[in-house]
Amino acid sequence: MARNRIMKYARLRADLETLAQFGRDPGGGHTRQAYTIADIEARRWLAQQMVNAGLEVQLDPAANVIGRLPATVEKGEAAALLIGSHIDTVPNGGALDGALGVLAGLEVVRRLQDESAIRIRPLDIIAFEDEEGRFGAFTGSRVMMGELDPSQLAQMRDAGGVALGAALESVGLSIDEFPKALRSIERIAGYLELHIEQGPILERKGLGVGIVNAIAGQVRFSVRFDGRPDHAGSTPMSDRKDAFAAAALFATKLRQTVIDQGRDGAVMTIGIVKVEPGVGNIVPSHARLGLEIRDTDKARLGTLAAATEQEAETAAKAHNLIVRCRKLYQVDPVQMHPRLCEELKRSAQMLGLNFLVMPSPAGHDAQVVGRHAPSAMIFVPSKGGRSHCPEEATEWSDIEQGVDLLYEATVRLLRDSQSLATTESGN
Ligand code: GLV
Ligand code: MN
Ligand code: MN
Repeated sequence: MARNRIMKYARLRADLETLAQFGRDPGGGHTRQAYTIADIEARRWLAQQMVNAGLEVQLDPAANVIGRLPATVEKGEAAALLIGSHIDTVPNGGALDGALGVLAGLEVVRRLQDESAIRIRPLDIIAFEDEEGRFGAFTGSRVMMGELDPSQLAQMRDAGGVALGAALESVGLSIDEFPKALRSIERIAGYLELHIEQGPILERKGLGVGIVNAIAGQVRFSVRFDGRPDHAGSTPMSDRKDAFAAAALFATKLRQTVIDQGRDGAVMTIGIVKVEPGVGNIVPSHARLGLEIRDTDKARLGTLAAATEQEAETAAKAHNLIVRCRKLYQVDPVQMHPRLCEELKRSAQMLGLNFLVMPSPAGHDAQVVGRHAPSAMIFVPSKGGRSHCPEEATEWSDIEQGVDLLYEATVRLLRDSQSLATTESGN
């Protein structure tokens, strides 16, 4: 049995290794940002693997890759079960973030066919586009779920100022067609996503799988301090309007506020800092920060968002300059669907797996789909809690447990009209 399983998952391992070749960075790590050549080539490769596995495949107008395994039993127009994740990466990211969930879905398809599993509903494997947010966040799943207003599309730009339309055109896609990636939500029975944890909890507890009960909400701000450029030698410290000094004060104060008020549930990151004019002997006139706060507690997230605006004002006042705090994005935490979580727990118990029910501080396509259809997630541990870096890794035995669980739950959900009928009405 164990020998058999190693043989089966060898296909998944080979797929992960092949996908990792697309956008491989010379010094280690992977860069497949959405709508780049590496990303689109990886998507074409994936589509071919899906065809080889017998799926009906579609690359939709947003470059989401969708492979459908039809039902074995015709039961009217049964809504589909979805398994998905993403194959775009952050710049210089790891080989598993997103890729594992998509390729595990493909492996589940092959196993279903090997084992001639009865399916009363279709199964769609989806590789969503731009989960990592080159153009915001979750672009592919949001357009599919109808969350992107076509009027917003023309405004969407990446960090380098490239418009979404231009990026689409560069890989042969069209912004006019983009909204056609919309999918009918009534046709979705449920959504499952397997993902690496990207944090240290499961490893520290010595557990191979996690069942996610909620995904953190987040708020993102762009904060710009406007001071005055002056001579760095002859301007007395008390006369300066130093934009970076205000930004630094704000950053350290806000960090402490999040630690004090967040009670281990909230996290804050300032991942973008741009100082102008960026010359060693000129007092900085402008400092722009890009920051995000995440929390699974909606009320506390709101409190910390308000504190961000307050701390920015206080820091600006302390340095006698002005600040503009722009909220770019806010999403509430999303609860995973209780019945699907129960299904995962039952499957884990059947397989004899020890698991932890845990929230996800990281964002996932499941939080977008989960706003519209019953959704649930499985986590496998990340070595050293590392992710969004080339060192990202997971023990193969843990990946096996995660895929076993995904497979078991999928078999049950595809076979049992009763359990899905109740999830369909339960959301
Ligand atoms: C996605 O990886 C996110 O949590 O930002
Ligand atoms: Mn991911
Ligand atoms: Mn990621």
